[in-house]
Amino acid sequence: MATRFDPSGPLRGRLRPPADKSISHRAALIAAMGEGEATIEGYLDSADTRSTLAAVQALGAEVEGAGPGAIEPTIRVRGVGLRGAKPAAIDVGNAGTLLRLLPGWLAGQPQGSWTLDGDDSIRRRPVDRVAAPLREMGARLSCREDRLPPLEVEAAPLEGISYELPVASAQVKSCLLFAGLLAEGETWVGEPLRSRDHTERMLAAAGAEVLWLEGGVTVRPAEALEPGDLAIPADFSSAAFFLLAALLVPDSEVELPRVGTNPTRTGLLGVLERMGAEIEVEVEAVGKHGGEPIGTIRARATELRGTEVGGKEIPLAIDELPLIALAACFAEGETTIRDAAELRRKESDRIVTTCEALAALGATVEAREDGMRIEGGGGLRGGAIESHGDHRIAMLAAVAGLASREGVEVEGMDAAAISYPGFESDLASLLGSSG
Ligand code: S3P
Repeated sequence: MATRFDPSGPLRGRLRPPADKSISHRAALIAAMGEGEATIEGYLDSADTRSTLAAVQALGAEVEGAGPGAIEPTIRVRGVGLRGAKPAAIDVGNAGTLLRLLPGWLAGQPQGSWTLDGDDSIRRRPVDRVAAPLREMGARLSCREDRLPPLEVEAAPLEGISYELPVASAQVKSCLLFAGLLAEGETWVGEPLRSRDHTERMLAAAGAEVLWLEGGVTVRPAEALEPGDLAIPADFSSAAFFLLAALLVPDSEVELPRVGTNPTRTGLLGVLERMGAEIEVEVEAVGKHGGEPIGTIRARATELRGTEVGGKEIPLAIDELPLIALAACFAEGETTIRDAAELRRKESDRIVTTCEALAALGATVEAREDGMRIEGGGGLRGGAIESHGDHRIAMLAAVAGLASREGVEVEGMDAAAISYPGFESDLASLLGSSG
């Protein structure tokens, strides 16, 4: 059944978006690598992050506070230790992050073998990007067509390597840092451009030796990790949908408290500011847990102008690029996004799904090999969008509907639950009686 989002009155009020998906995945994995009990405050209750809890349980970790109905405000994870993962068949569901991070930990175990597989979309997501460098470290892995899941991992002794990532990817970097904890000697991962650094921060907070060197990160082998108490900030990538809705729907003004403002995640803010957006970020604190900064973000409706996005901004805004394309439809002049071929390897080919969705609503967009070009100024008429099972396309469609002239019908809105099960009701709460 399709879900309709009609043109709306202003969004108003204060809302804390759900917990960060990237940080939740890492918290569950690093807590499982610990020896004793770790607490995680505010773990994200979504399909993807439930897959990670199920995975760590299959590997032998004990999880308390995550029932089938709801995840409690604080969950407890009793880890299996850095070298204690039990053999298992892991269903990663739709979680690309789990698929890419977990093999790094498993590959360096003293014994055992594992299979990682997931849904239809996961079976199209490449794993050679982690398999190739892990093999250089001595890992024993095999995958379908040497590129795709299912991925089989067999325990093997690992050696530290120096590896320059061909494309900036926090998932691949994190995988190699996990493997580096178990390897002999140091592991260095160089990045052509900086990507999100949640893994480095959390590992350092858990006692691992992580050193940031010019252009890369070094990790030293570890005997044990002590994750202690972890708290998860609200997800900037989820907040981004409300930010955009507030910018595009006239007279809106929203306040989003306790959102993760790690600069390796907030590239969207710089792009929107260049487009003329009125956004204010008030730093609240550097979280005591995992060293993640948090802040309150305020945004209000503004006239926007087109811009060019590329280079080092891309990894810092990778999951928000579809939203920049949406903003561009309402901005005066042309917007181009380049250097973003990685978008083709997300939950859907987001160059295709974003351009098709916006074109179906009346936008003038051109898909390019490594990005897109949008002719702005006309806003969006409205129409019908298919999410293609991609949570971020589903939520983009909802925002597009509110800002459109005739409304948007979304097929596959349920995909939002991958990262944000309460999205529709949270959106309704900001619309209040104006919706
Ligand atoms: C993620 C990193 C990004 C991002 C994904 C989550 C992570 O992928 O697109 O949604 O949690 O590490 P890449 O860094 O592989 O591009």
